Amino acid sequence: MGLKGDNAFINPSNIELSEDILKAARIILDGDCVAVPTETVYGLAANAFSENACRKIFEIKNRPFIDPLIVHVSDMAMAESIACFNDKARRLAAKFWPGPMTIVLKKKDVIPDLVSANLDTVAIRMPSHKVAHALIVASKVPFAAPSANPFGYVSPTKAEHVRAQLGDKIKLILEGGQCDRGLESTIISLADPNRPLLLRFGPLAREELEAFLGEKVIVPEKNPAQPIAPGMMKSHYSPKANFRLFENESEIPENFDGAIIFLKRPQSPKNNHFWLSENGNLAEVAKNLYDLMRNCDKRYSKILCQKPENSGVGAAINDRLMRASKK
Ligand code: TXA
Ligand code: MG
Repeated sequence: MGLKGDNAFINPSNIELSEDILKAARIILDGDCVAVPTETVYGLAANAFSENACRKIFEIKNRPFIDPLIVHVSDMAMAESIACFNDKARRLAAKFWPGPMTIVLKKKDVIPDLVSANLDTVAIRMPSHKVAHALIVASKVPFAAPSANPFGYVSPTKAEHVRAQLGDKIKLILEGGQCDRGLESTIISLADPNRPLLLRFGPLAREELEAFLGEKVIVPEKNPAQPIAPGMMKSHYSPKANFRLFENESEIPENFDGAIIFLKRPQSPKNNHFWLSENGNLAEVAKNLYDLMRNCDKRYSKILCQKPENSGVGAAINDRLMRASKK
Protein backbone atom coordinates (compact mmCIF):
# COMPACT_ATOMS: atom_id res chain seq x y z
CA MET A 1 0.00 0.00 0.00
CA GLY A 2 1.21 3.48 -0.82
CA LEU A 3 4.34 2.27 -2.57
CA LYS A 4 5.92 4.14 -5.43
CA GLY A 5 3.31 4.54 -8.14
CA ASP A 6 0.83 2.43 -6.21
CA ASN A 7 -2.70 3.50 -5.52
CA ALA A 8 -3.21 3.99 -1.84
CA PHE A 9 -6.29 2.55 -0.17
CA ILE A 10 -8.61 5.10 1.37
CA ASN A 11 -10.97 4.47 4.24
CA PRO A 12 -13.72 7.03 3.62
CA SER A 13 -15.07 6.89 7.16
CA ASN A 14 -11.93 8.35 8.67
CA ILE A 15 -10.33 9.97 5.74
CA GLU A 16 -8.42 12.85 7.31
CA LEU A 17 -6.51 10.51 9.58
CA SER A 18 -6.09 7.71 7.13
CA GLU A 19 -2.53 6.52 6.92
CA ASP A 20 -2.35 7.22 3.23
CA ILE A 21 -3.53 10.80 3.55
CA LEU A 22 -0.91 11.37 6.25
CA LYS A 23 1.72 9.78 4.07
CA ALA A 24 0.69 11.95 1.12
CA ALA A 25 0.77 15.04 3.36
CA ARG A 26 4.33 14.16 4.43
CA ILE A 27 5.41 13.83 0.80
CA ILE A 28 3.85 17.25 0.05
CA LEU A 29 5.63 18.83 3.05
CA ASP A 30 8.90 17.16 2.00
CA GLY A 31 8.66 19.04 -1.30
CA ASP A 32 7.56 16.23 -3.60
CA CYS A 33 4.50 15.60 -5.76
CA VAL A 34 1.43 13.42 -5.16
CA ALA A 35 -1.39 12.61 -7.57
CA VAL A 36 -4.74 13.37 -6.01
CA PRO A 37 -8.34 12.86 -7.13
CA THR A 38 -10.64 15.85 -7.33
CA GLU A 39 -14.27 16.04 -8.46
CA THR A 40 -13.10 17.34 -11.88
CA VAL A 41 -9.95 15.42 -12.86
CA TYR A 42 -6.91 13.96 -11.07
CA GLY A 43 -4.35 16.60 -10.16
CA LEU A 44 -0.57 16.48 -9.77
CA ALA A 45 -0.14 18.25 -6.44
CA ALA A 46 2.77 20.03 -4.75
CA ASN A 47 3.07 22.48 -1.86
CA ALA A 48 1.89 25.77 -3.38
CA PHE A 49 4.23 27.75 -1.08
CA SER A 50 7.33 25.93 -2.31
CA GLU A 51 8.84 27.03 -5.60
CA ASN A 52 11.12 24.00 -5.73
CA ALA A 53 8.26 21.58 -5.18
CA CYS A 54 6.12 23.27 -7.83
CA ARG A 55 8.98 23.20 -10.32
CA LYS A 56 8.78 19.39 -10.15
CA ILE A 57 5.20 19.56 -11.41
CA PHE A 58 6.36 21.32 -14.59
CA GLU A 59 9.19 18.85 -15.03
CA ILE A 60 7.06 15.74 -14.54
CA LYS A 61 4.38 16.99 -16.94
CA ASN A 62 6.80 18.52 -19.41
CA ARG A 63 4.71 21.66 -19.07
CA PRO A 64 5.93 25.07 -20.28
CA PHE A 65 6.67 27.50 -17.44
CA ILE A 66 4.43 30.12 -19.03
CA ASP A 67 1.33 28.05 -18.16
CA PRO A 68 0.22 28.99 -14.61
CA LEU A 69 -1.06 26.49 -12.00
CA ILE A 70 -4.28 26.42 -9.99
CA VAL A 71 -3.91 26.58 -6.19
CA HIS A 72 -6.28 24.36 -4.18
CA VAL A 73 -7.51 25.40 -0.72
CA SER A 74 -9.57 23.79 2.02
CA ASP A 75 -11.38 26.84 3.39
CA MET A 76 -11.94 30.59 2.96
CA ALA A 77 -9.28 31.63 5.47
CA MET A 78 -6.68 29.80 3.41
CA ALA A 79 -8.09 31.30 0.19
CA GLU A 80 -7.96 34.84 1.59
CA SER A 81 -4.37 34.32 2.73
CA ILE A 82 -3.15 33.84 -0.84
CA ALA A 83 -5.33 36.18 -2.93
CA CYS A 84 -7.07 39.56 -2.71
CA PHE A 85 -10.78 38.81 -2.65
CA ASN A 86 -13.43 41.33 -3.63
CA ASP A 87 -17.11 41.10 -2.68
CA LYS A 88 -18.14 39.53 -5.95
CA ALA A 89 -15.52 36.81 -5.56
CA ARG A 90 -16.66 36.16 -1.99
CA ARG A 91 -20.26 35.80 -3.13
CA LEU A 92 -19.29 33.38 -5.89
CA ALA A 93 -17.13 31.37 -3.51
CA ALA A 94 -19.92 31.18 -0.92
CA LYS A 95 -22.29 29.89 -3.59
CA PHE A 96 -20.16 27.50 -5.65
CA TRP A 97 -17.33 26.35 -3.34
CA PRO A 98 -16.39 23.70 -2.65
CA GLY A 99 -16.82 22.70 -6.28
CA PRO A 100 -15.63 22.76 -9.89
CA MET A 101 -15.04 26.52 -10.17
CA THR A 102 -11.68 28.32 -10.21
CA ILE A 103 -11.48 32.06 -9.50
CA VAL A 104 -8.58 34.21 -10.74
CA LEU A 105 -7.72 37.12 -8.43
CA LYS A 106 -4.80 39.42 -7.64
CA LYS A 107 -2.24 37.31 -5.85
CA LYS A 108 -0.50 37.83 -2.53
CA ASP A 109 3.28 37.48 -2.17
CA VAL A 110 3.15 34.09 -0.41
CA ILE A 111 2.52 32.45 -3.79
CA PRO A 112 5.78 31.98 -5.72
CA ASP A 113 5.94 33.62 -9.15
CA LEU A 114 6.60 30.23 -10.67
CA VAL A 115 3.08 29.10 -9.72
CA SER A 116 1.43 32.07 -11.41
CA ALA A 117 3.86 32.17 -14.35
CA ASN A 118 4.95 35.65 -13.26
CA LEU A 119 1.44 37.07 -13.49
CA ASP A 120 0.15 39.33 -10.73
CA THR A 121 -2.88 37.04 -10.38
CA VAL A 122 -3.43 33.55 -9.00
CA ALA A 123 -6.07 30.94 -9.85
CA ILE A 124 -7.75 29.38 -6.77
CA ARG A 125 -10.15 26.51 -6.29
CA MET A 126 -11.69 24.79 -3.27
CA PRO A 127 -12.21 21.16 -4.34
CA SER A 128 -15.18 19.20 -2.97
CA HIS A 129 -13.59 15.75 -3.36
CA LYS A 130 -13.05 14.37 0.13
CA VAL A 131 -9.57 13.03 -0.64
CA ALA A 132 -8.35 16.36 -2.05
CA HIS A 133 -9.88 18.19 0.89
CA ALA A 134 -8.34 15.79 3.40
CA LEU A 135 -4.90 16.20 1.87
CA ILE A 136 -5.00 19.98 2.34
CA VAL A 137 -6.29 19.65 5.91
CA ALA A 138 -3.61 17.10 6.79
CA SER A 139 -0.72 19.03 5.23
CA LYS A 140 -2.05 22.45 6.34
CA VAL A 141 -0.81 23.99 3.09
CA PRO A 142 -2.62 24.67 -0.17
CA PHE A 143 -1.49 22.53 -3.09
CA ALA A 144 -0.82 23.73 -6.61
CA ALA A 145 -2.04 21.20 -9.14
CA PRO A 146 -2.55 20.93 -12.86
CA SER A 147 -4.21 17.87 -14.32
CA ALA A 148 -1.97 14.81 -13.79
CA ASN A 149 -1.22 14.05 -17.44
CA PRO A 150 1.69 14.74 -19.78
CA PHE A 151 1.23 18.26 -21.19
CA GLY A 152 -1.15 18.27 -24.15
CA TYR A 153 -2.83 14.90 -23.52
CA VAL A 154 -6.35 14.19 -22.25
CA SER A 155 -6.77 14.77 -18.48
CA PRO A 156 -6.99 11.72 -16.17
CA THR A 157 -10.34 10.90 -14.59
CA LYS A 158 -9.27 7.59 -13.00
CA ALA A 159 -6.19 6.71 -10.93
CA GLU A 160 -5.25 4.10 -13.55
CA HIS A 161 -4.96 6.88 -16.17
CA VAL A 162 -2.37 8.62 -14.00
CA ARG A 163 -0.49 5.41 -13.31
CA ALA A 164 -0.37 4.48 -17.00
CA GLN A 165 1.25 7.76 -18.03
CA LEU A 166 3.09 9.15 -15.02
CA GLY A 167 3.21 6.22 -12.56
CA ASP A 168 7.01 5.90 -12.62
CA LYS A 169 7.52 9.64 -11.99
CA ILE A 170 5.20 10.14 -9.00
CA LYS A 171 5.88 8.98 -5.44
CA LEU A 172 2.23 8.34 -4.59
CA ILE A 173 -1.08 8.21 -6.40
CA LEU A 174 -4.09 8.53 -4.10
CA GLU A 175 -7.02 6.42 -5.30
CA GLY A 176 -10.35 8.20 -5.23
CA GLY A 177 -12.46 6.45 -7.83
CA GLN A 178 -13.69 7.94 -11.09
CA CYS A 179 -13.97 11.74 -11.01
CA ASP A 180 -17.60 12.74 -10.85
CA ARG A 181 -17.54 15.78 -13.15
CA GLY A 182 -14.93 14.49 -15.59
CA LEU A 183 -13.94 17.88 -17.04
CA GLU A 184 -11.53 20.52 -15.75
CA SER A 185 -13.03 23.30 -13.62
CA THR A 186 -14.76 26.38 -14.97
CA ILE A 187 -12.32 29.34 -14.68
CA ILE A 188 -13.62 32.83 -14.05
CA SER A 189 -11.39 35.87 -13.58
CA LEU A 190 -12.56 38.51 -11.12
CA ALA A 191 -9.19 40.25 -10.97
CA ASP A 192 -11.25 43.21 -12.21
CA PRO A 193 -14.61 42.61 -10.52
CA ASN A 194 -16.33 44.96 -12.96
CA ARG A 195 -15.27 42.79 -15.87
CA PRO A 196 -15.85 39.09 -15.13
CA LEU A 197 -14.02 36.94 -17.70
CA LEU A 198 -14.89 33.34 -18.42
CA LEU A 199 -11.43 31.94 -19.14
CA ARG A 200 -12.39 28.26 -19.46
CA PHE A 201 -15.74 26.53 -19.89
CA GLY A 202 -16.28 23.76 -17.36
CA PRO A 203 -18.78 21.79 -15.27
CA LEU A 204 -20.24 24.96 -13.76
CA ALA A 205 -22.22 26.30 -16.71
CA ARG A 206 -21.91 29.84 -18.01
CA GLU A 207 -25.70 30.19 -17.72
CA GLU A 208 -25.60 29.33 -14.03
CA LEU A 209 -22.76 31.77 -13.36
CA GLU A 210 -24.53 34.59 -15.20
CA ALA A 211 -27.84 33.92 -13.49
CA PHE A 212 -26.18 34.08 -10.09
CA LEU A 213 -24.08 37.17 -10.85
CA GLY A 214 -27.00 38.89 -12.59
CA GLU A 215 -24.71 39.97 -15.43
CA LYS A 216 -23.07 38.66 -18.58
CA VAL A 217 -19.55 37.28 -18.39
CA ILE A 218 -17.07 38.05 -21.16
CA VAL A 219 -15.53 35.16 -23.05
CA PRO A 220 -12.18 36.43 -24.34
CA GLU A 221 -11.00 35.07 -27.69
CA LYS A 222 -7.89 33.78 -25.96
CA ASN A 223 -7.12 33.43 -22.28
CA PRO A 224 -5.10 36.66 -21.96
CA ALA A 225 -3.13 35.14 -19.09
CA GLN A 226 -2.04 32.16 -21.13
CA PRO A 227 0.21 33.48 -23.85
CA ILE A 228 0.91 30.06 -25.29
CA ALA A 229 1.41 29.89 -29.03
CA PRO A 230 -1.87 28.88 -30.66
CA GLY A 231 -0.15 25.86 -32.15
CA MET A 232 0.52 24.48 -28.70
CA MET A 233 -2.95 25.12 -27.41
CA LYS A 234 -4.43 23.30 -30.37
CA SER A 235 -2.93 20.03 -29.27
CA HIS A 236 -4.46 20.41 -25.80
CA TYR A 237 -6.69 17.52 -24.69
CA SER A 238 -5.58 15.53 -27.73
CA PRO A 239 -5.70 11.78 -28.17
CA LYS A 240 -3.13 10.24 -30.53
CA ALA A 241 -5.76 8.99 -32.95
CA ASN A 242 -7.16 11.10 -35.74
CA PHE A 243 -10.12 12.63 -33.91
CA ARG A 244 -13.10 14.09 -35.78
CA LEU A 245 -16.55 15.29 -34.78
CA PHE A 246 -20.07 14.82 -36.10
CA GLU A 247 -23.52 16.02 -35.18
CA ASN A 248 -25.91 13.71 -37.01
CA GLU A 249 -25.50 10.04 -37.86
CA SER A 250 -25.98 10.90 -41.53
CA GLU A 251 -22.48 12.47 -41.44
CA ILE A 252 -20.78 9.16 -40.60
CA PRO A 253 -18.99 7.83 -43.70
CA GLU A 254 -20.21 4.41 -44.81
CA ASN A 255 -17.90 1.56 -43.76
CA PHE A 256 -16.03 3.83 -41.34
CA ASP A 257 -13.69 1.42 -39.55
CA GLY A 258 -12.53 3.65 -36.67
CA ALA A 259 -14.26 4.03 -33.30
CA ILE A 260 -17.57 5.91 -33.27
CA ILE A 261 -18.47 7.57 -29.98
CA PHE A 262 -22.15 8.42 -29.53
CA LEU A 263 -23.73 10.57 -26.84
CA LYS A 264 -26.30 7.85 -26.16
CA ARG A 265 -26.73 4.15 -26.98
CA PRO A 266 -27.36 3.77 -30.72
CA GLN A 267 -30.36 1.71 -31.82
CA SER A 268 -28.35 -1.18 -33.21
CA PRO A 269 -24.79 -0.83 -31.92
CA LYS A 270 -21.93 -2.38 -33.89
CA ASN A 271 -18.52 -3.53 -32.62
CA ASN A 272 -16.91 -0.16 -33.21
CA HIS A 273 -19.77 1.78 -31.59
CA PHE A 274 -19.37 3.24 -28.09
CA TRP A 275 -21.59 5.55 -26.07
CA LEU A 276 -21.00 8.04 -23.27
CA SER A 277 -24.36 7.66 -21.54
CA GLU A 278 -27.33 5.28 -21.92
CA ASN A 279 -29.74 8.12 -22.65
CA GLY A 280 -27.49 11.07 -23.51
CA ASN A 281 -27.47 12.71 -20.07
CA LEU A 282 -24.81 15.43 -20.42
CA ALA A 283 -23.44 15.16 -16.88
CA GLU A 284 -22.78 11.47 -17.60
CA VAL A 285 -21.34 12.30 -21.00
CA ALA A 286 -18.88 14.70 -19.33
CA LYS A 287 -18.00 12.19 -16.63
CA ASN A 288 -17.20 9.40 -19.11
CA LEU A 289 -15.71 11.40 -21.97
CA TYR A 290 -11.97 11.26 -21.24
CA ASP A 291 -12.06 7.62 -20.12
CA LEU A 292 -13.76 6.55 -23.34
CA MET A 293 -11.44 8.73 -25.43
CA ARG A 294 -8.46 7.02 -23.78
CA ASN A 295 -9.88 3.55 -24.31
CA CYS A 296 -10.68 4.18 -27.97
CA ASP A 297 -7.27 5.81 -28.44
CA LYS A 298 -5.61 2.54 -27.37
CA ARG A 299 -7.40 0.46 -30.01
CA TYR A 300 -8.18 2.71 -32.95
CA SER A 301 -6.24 5.12 -35.12
CA LYS A 302 -9.40 7.01 -36.10
CA ILE A 303 -12.17 8.23 -33.80
CA LEU A 304 -15.43 9.97 -34.68
CA CYS A 305 -17.22 11.60 -31.76
CA GLN A 306 -20.70 13.09 -31.60
CA LYS A 307 -21.08 16.71 -30.43
CA PRO A 308 -23.73 17.60 -27.85
CA GLU A 309 -25.92 20.71 -27.90
CA ASN A 310 -23.89 23.78 -27.02
CA SER A 311 -25.57 24.80 -23.74
CA GLY A 312 -24.93 24.04 -20.07
CA VAL A 313 -22.12 21.55 -19.58
CA GLY A 314 -22.48 20.82 -23.32
CA ALA A 315 -20.50 24.02 -24.01
CA ALA A 316 -17.57 22.67 -21.96
CA ILE A 317 -17.77 19.26 -23.64
CA ASN A 318 -17.75 20.91 -27.07
CA ASP A 319 -14.81 23.10 -26.09
CA ARG A 320 -12.73 20.01 -25.23
CA LEU A 321 -13.93 18.10 -28.31
CA MET A 322 -12.97 20.99 -30.57
CA ARG A 323 -9.49 21.16 -29.10
CA ALA A 324 -9.05 17.40 -29.32
CA SER A 325 -10.02 17.50 -33.00
CA LYS A 326 -7.42 20.15 -33.89
CA LYS A 327 -4.00 18.66 -34.36
O1 TXA B 1 -10.33 21.08 -12.55
C1 TXA B 1 -9.23 21.62 -12.58
O2 TXA B 1 -9.10 22.85 -12.68
C2 TXA B 1 -7.99 20.72 -12.50
C3 TXA B 1 -7.97 20.08 -11.11
C4 TXA B 1 -6.70 19.31 -10.84
O3 TXA B 1 -8.20 21.05 -10.13
N1 TXA B 1 -6.81 21.45 -12.77
C5 TXA B 1 -6.51 21.89 -14.01
O4 TXA B 1 -5.30 22.54 -14.11
O5 TXA B 1 -7.22 21.73 -14.97
P1 TXA B 1 -4.58 22.84 -15.48
O6 TXA B 1 -3.18 23.18 -15.14
O7 TXA B 1 -4.73 21.71 -16.40
O8 TXA B 1 -5.23 24.15 -15.98
C6 TXA B 1 -4.87 25.38 -15.37
C7 TXA B 1 -5.23 26.53 -16.24
C8 TXA B 1 -4.05 27.15 -16.97
O9 TXA B 1 -3.73 26.45 -18.13
C9 TXA B 1 -4.56 28.54 -17.23
O10 TXA B 1 -5.36 28.51 -18.40
C10 TXA B 1 -5.45 28.81 -16.05
O11 TXA B 1 -5.69 27.60 -15.41
N2 TXA B 1 -4.81 29.71 -15.07
C11 TXA B 1 -4.04 29.39 -14.02
N3 TXA B 1 -3.62 30.49 -13.37
C12 TXA B 1 -4.13 31.53 -14.05
C13 TXA B 1 -4.06 32.94 -13.89
N4 TXA B 1 -3.37 33.50 -12.91
N5 TXA B 1 -4.72 33.70 -14.78
C14 TXA B 1 -5.44 33.14 -15.77
N6 TXA B 1 -5.54 31.82 -15.99
C15 TXA B 1 -4.90 31.03 -15.14
MG1 MG C 1 -4.49 20.32 -17.95
